[in-house]
Amino acid sequence: MKSHDWRPPTLTTARLVLRAFTDDDAQPLFEHARNPNVTRYTLWEAHNTVADTMIFVRDYAILRYLEGTAEPYAITIAPDPRPVGACGCFWASQTHQTMELGYWIGEAHWGKGLVVEACRAVLDFTFAEYTPERIQARVIEGNEASARVLAKLGFREEGTLRRSLLRCGKFEDVRIFSLLHGERA
Ligand SMILES: CC(C)(COP(=O)(O)OP(=O)(O)OC[C@H]1O[C@@H](n2cnc3c(N)ncnc32)[C@H](O)[C@@H]1OP(=O)(O)O)[C@@H](O)C(=O)NCCC(=O)NCCS
Repeated sequence: MKSHDWRPPTLTTARLVLRAFTDDDAQPLFEHARNPNVTRYTLWEAHNTVADTMIFVRDYAILRYLEGTAEPYAITIAPDPRPVGACGCFWASQTHQTMELGYWIGEAHWGKGLVVEACRAVLDFTFAEYTPERIQARVIEGNEASARVLAKLGFREEGTLRRSLLRCGKFEDVRIFSLLHGERA
């Protein structure tokens, strides 16, 4: 457990600043999180009101920071401080030293390689700081753009967990990918 005011360190890349979320982010993030195209293949549903986004900031992000987990990171495109998405790694199993990568970005910013750029910085930081043996990622079948992101990050596809996710009343196949500590370039 970290002190109550611990926050993940800010990471910068060529185009992005990745930083901890604050309450002020709820309104600008909502403008992206309300879009059902964004949540077509995510484990969370499109936000209906800004209150839903505030719950994400306060009840999800702040609790993770309290645990000392550097996730979620707000993705911002410099010099604009408003968040356009989120990414980061959380513990899937601390016992087995396995973390999991998650990411999303607003539709207006798709196709520019921004998530790959963000995740490269997050992976470098996470392997150095938390020393997991394995970082995994799950992709709902059909989300080819997300599979491409993982391929560009050097992840290897391991297989499909058939009908392993019940989402909106439908069983989904989930593709699983991983990157091991020793495989980092
Ligand atoms: C998936 C997502 C993270 C990709 O981020 P991005 O920054 O747009 O990724 P990139 O710009 O690197 O583009 C992704 C790749 O997918 C490709 N792609 C895009 N849409 C595609 C589609 N429908 N079918 C196949 N490939 C597609 C792009 O051509 C690109 O590949 P390339 O670089 O080899 O040409 C982003 O679209 C997103 O946030 N989607 C909604 C949330 C989500 O699905 N999150 C992931 C959950 S596992």
